[in-house]
Amino acid sequence: MKNSGKFILLCAMLSTFTMTNPIFAQQNQKKQVNKISDVREERRKVMNIKVEATTQDAGKPIQKAKITSNDNIQTLLENRQSFRDFAEGDSLNARELAAILWCANGTNREGKGRTAPSALAMNLIDIYVFNKSGVYKWDPVSSTILPISSADMRIETGMQEFVQNAALNLVMVFDSKKIEKQKPDMELEKDKAAIYAAIEAGAISENIYLTCAALNLGTVVRGSFDNDKILNILQLMPENCSVICAQSIGRMPK
Ligand SMILES: Cc1cc2nc3c(=O)[nH]c(=O)nc-3n(C[C@H](O)[C@H](O)[C@H](O)COP(=O)(O)O)c2cc1C
Repeated sequence: MKNSGKFILLCAMLSTFTMTNPIFAQQNQKKQVNKISDVREERRKVMNIKVEATTQDAGKPIQKAKITSNDNIQTLLENRQSFRDFAEGDSLNARELAAILWCANGTNREGKGRTAPSALAMNLIDIYVFNKSGVYKWDPVSSTILPISSADMRIETGMQEFVQNAALNLVMVFDSKKIEKQKPDMELEKDKAAIYAAIEAGAISENIYLTCAALNLGTVVRGSFDNDKILNILQLMPENCSVICAQSIGRMPK
């Protein structure tokens, strides 16, 4: 074998060894962890939530808001629970709405990165906002809420009495067309796609629960709603769209 041949063989053996050797693998993993922790440290310094929405500026890019909570994740989890006793006339301010939407499923990295995980990063769930001043669609890419209607249709998002009193009702909709658009060659069974969407909605819901714990707001996720009624309001096609869940949010009595 010529010298150059031997050299290539040696390099190949060495790279196979480093890839399969647990010590080298661990080192590589550590490098990766360091990189992510650096990024997290940078973010911690900023800690600005990139959204602030008021109903007046729906459709315009949203300014920065900040969650002012010193609770750590353990405290937030200890405080996570469902709440349904919303007072009539309840309202949220723009900063609270902004924080809830960004934490629910906002963009936290370049590209398609969101605060909630998503199968194959397809981002199957769209969040619709129902509050006193109307109905909007949350667009995480531009951090805006896009107006759909100026009517108060909170009551239409559920069957329970408290729904109309909650300052905010979020509706999570799965649009199966998103899969065809993003992965045209992928054959994904209908049931599996629905499970992916439900898992994504569940992650979004828990984000909302923890945000509400941080902001001292009450919330409850709901499986009771009229799918067709909501799709009709949102002018979405029942052939490819379905409501996965709704979530009511509002102030808790002091
Ligand atoms: C998929 C799902 C659907 C739910 N649907 C409703 C609902 O329609 N109405 C309601 O009041 N609570 C609903 N809940 C909230 C549960 O009742 C609540 O999580 C449960 O009682 C446990 O209480 P906790 O969340 O305070 O721990 C739902 C929860 C989940 C996970």
